[in-house]
Amino acid sequence: MKLGFIGTGALTSAIVAGLKSLADNSVSILLSPRNAEIAAGLASRYPDVRVAGDNQAVLDNCDTVMLAVRPQVAHEVLSELRFRPDHHVVSLIATLSREEIADMSAPAEKVTKALPMPMIAYGQGATIICPPEPSIAALFGKLGKAIEVEDESEFDALSVVTATYATYFKYLDTIHGWLKDHGVGEARGRDYIAALFKALAHAPEAAPEAGFMHLAEEYATRGGINEQVLRELTDRKLFDAFAQSLDGVHRRISKT
Ligand SMILES: NC(=O)c1ccc[n+]([C@@H]2O[C@H](COP(=O)([O-])OP(=O)(O)OC[C@H]3O[C@@H](n4cnc5c(N)ncnc54)[C@H](OP(=O)(O)O)[C@@H]3O)[C@@H](O)[C@H]2O)c1
Repeated sequence: MKLGFIGTGALTSAIVAGLKSLADNSVSILLSPRNAEIAAGLASRYPDVRVAGDNQAVLDNCDTVMLAVRPQVAHEVLSELRFRPDHHVVSLIATLSREEIADMSAPAEKVTKALPMPMIAYGQGATIICPPEPSIAALFGKLGKAIEVEDESEFDALSVVTATYATYFKYLDTIHGWLKDHGVGEARGRDYIAALFKALAHAPEAAPEAGFMHLAEEYATRGGINEQVLRELTDRKLFDAFAQSLDGVHRRISKT
């Protein structure tokens, strides 16, 4: 595979770092020259990573092209490029549909959507891929989990999950702030929270048959302190409000 990237920013950096940290890191990568500083940094850090003269040179020298520009500029950037029918276009642009990308990258015949996350740089997390595509699943599967879906509406629904990270950290920050207000040193509170939540993050994989609510119930001893917090937040409709926010993100992503 001759892999090229149009758009060399945060996500491209993470994918390149992930691929080049593998034992078999021989995939050759051609980057578009923008962002110049990031592209030059990647090319100097890793073997077989080069910077093309311009975006078209990426297409002309690659068979698989990952689109990693922001959605706002995608139309302008892609309309200036000449794709070949044999190009495999992999769009990482979260908010554009496969159909929109196929229109913009005609006559390329194979168009795949993929949603990797920055933690791919460390071989963690998961990438959703639509439609199923063995070569792309194999590539991202080396960098964490690869989840292939047939249906773009399922892809869009799964994408909504990625809108919840900041809220997760706000949740941890609320606990941290509360500890600070109660005399616990900043570093000690942070260490304690980080260690506990790291352990909790392993629970679903350790018990693959258990639903999340089953895990919640395991911790929510009747009359205990976990049950109290869960009940009080449920009664205040916190989780209903959270689900409504997911609906809002879903509408935005799927434009339905
Ligand atoms: N970051 C994430 O966590 C994440 C996750 C999933 C999907 N995505 C998707 O991935 C795409 C890229 O995200 P990102 O976070 O990597 O954004 P980013 O860091 O802003 O990178 C976008 C890159 O595109 C470059 N660019 C702008 N105009 C260009 C042009 N005409 N030709 C070539 N490159 C051009 C930018 O260069 P300049 O800096 O010079 O403007 C920048 O380096 C987005 O569509 C986003 O929806 C991102």
